[in-house]
Amino acid sequence: MSDLKISNLYKRYGNVEVLKDVNLDINSGEFVVFVGPSGCGKSTLLRTISGLESITSGTLEIGGRVVNDVAPSKRGIAMVFQSYALYPHMTVFDNMAYSLKLTRTPKDEIKRKVQQAADMLQLGPYLERLPKALSGGQRQRVAIGRAIVRNPQVFLFDEPLSNLDAALRVATRMEIAKLKESLPETTMVYVTHDQVEAMTLADRIVVLKDGVVMQVGTPMELYDQPQSLFVAGFIGSPKMNFLTGKNAATYNATTVGVRPEHMEIVPNGNGDWTGKVIYSEDLGSDSYIYVDIGEEEAVIVRQDGKTPYHSGDIISFRPKGSLYHRFDEAGAPLSANGVATPVKTAPATSVETANPIEEGMPDEGVVGSAGAVAMPAKPARQRTASKTEAVTPEAGTIKTAAAKKAPARKAPVKPKL
Ligand SMILES: Nc1ncnc2c1ncn2[C@@H]1O[C@H](COP(=O)(O)OP(=O)(O)OP(=O)(O)O)[C@@H](O)[C@H]1O
Ligand SMILES: [Mg+2]
Repeated sequence: MSDLKISNLYKRYGNVEVLKDVNLDINSGEFVVFVGPSGCGKSTLLRTISGLESITSGTLEIGGRVVNDVAPSKRGIAMVFQSYALYPHMTVFDNMAYSLKLTRTPKDEIKRKVQQAADMLQLGPYLERLPKALSGGQRQRVAIGRAIVRNPQVFLFDEPLSNLDAALRVATRMEIAKLKESLPETTMVYVTHDQVEAMTLADRIVVLKDGVVMQVGTPMELYDQPQSLFVAGFIGSPKMNFLTGKNAATYNATTVGVRPEHMEIVPNGNGDWTGKVIYSEDLGSDSYIYVDIGEEEAVIVRQDGKTPYHSGDIISFRPKGSLYHRFDEAGAPLSANGVATPVKTAPATSVETANPIEEGMPDEGVVGSAGAVAMPAKPARQRTASKTEAVTPEAGTIKTAAAKKAPARKAPVKPKL
């Protein structure tokens, strides 16, 4: 049994509270990923599990045993860091064998264990090389191998792939996915900034913000049913669009969230929102269109394949079916499961006329089909036509002219991509 139970855990450095009342149950053999903005406490939480950091209060149990005061080496854990921390003067074999030598493991057993780990990680041909003669991905695999030979109950990874280039990241991510399959009994906790790593590797994701656990769930639970505006904006790349004020009025919500991939472009005048394209990106397989509809940040609309729309075009769009999320002013979802239910209200002034047939329809009657989405019969007024656009791509968002003019407002959460 190597389940992990964290109860009422606090961590303070002097007056600074870095982790606040963290409660987590991680099952034996589970692969759990911690995500959250830089400085939110991911590494600190991982280090408290490893014992490299003490906890201020609370309880930490591994396999049913309270380990608050147990030394790191006695916790049955192994940790892999972003920096591989290999011994430069030792061969790959010796790096991997080092901890076993320290515990006076018999030579033939060391050989067998190192060979087994090397096979698992495809390091066989490199066993006699020094780390300096390896690529970054190979070095990180040695660091993982060094941890595997210790046969840990709990494997902790702190951004192990973040030093690797894009191609190596993909390859090493696959190695870690295979490792997870070949060690089904081993509990794994993994910190990352990378959306794809989190979504593809995790059985469950823990989203942290300012030392607080915001939501725990499977990747799809977090994607489909974010329980806060923060999680909605953090999970998914490019991030969910947030439409506010007049743009959210027909949804009877303070904020309507729609993922770029859940927007559909419709003939002008038939969408819920209409605006001017300020930028478009063709990636071949798909494209992203950045549209100014009067929000601080451009709304991103994803299209399959190449896009015919370019800067200056006016487009109209709306969510596909009921694929949108409504939030109140506190950022809490307005429906129980986070999948929004359209509620019709009188249109805001900028949406000139609402469809009289749809007005007043009960919630149940309008869920689940594209036609059911709250939709003005006439085009929404083109709010951006006369503006000068400010295209400033940063972290996946583009500021609109409105943002430039508007007084500083608390920006929506921007995931670190
Ligand atoms: N030894 C320390 N003394 C004081 N504050 C610390 C110490 N170690 C970490 N912190 C603070 O604790 C907070 C959490 O740090 P931590 O390294 O856990 O963040 P993180 O989520 O891993 O961030 P990143 O994504 O940038 O790695 C930060 O605000 C950091 O400044
Ligand atoms: Mg960190």
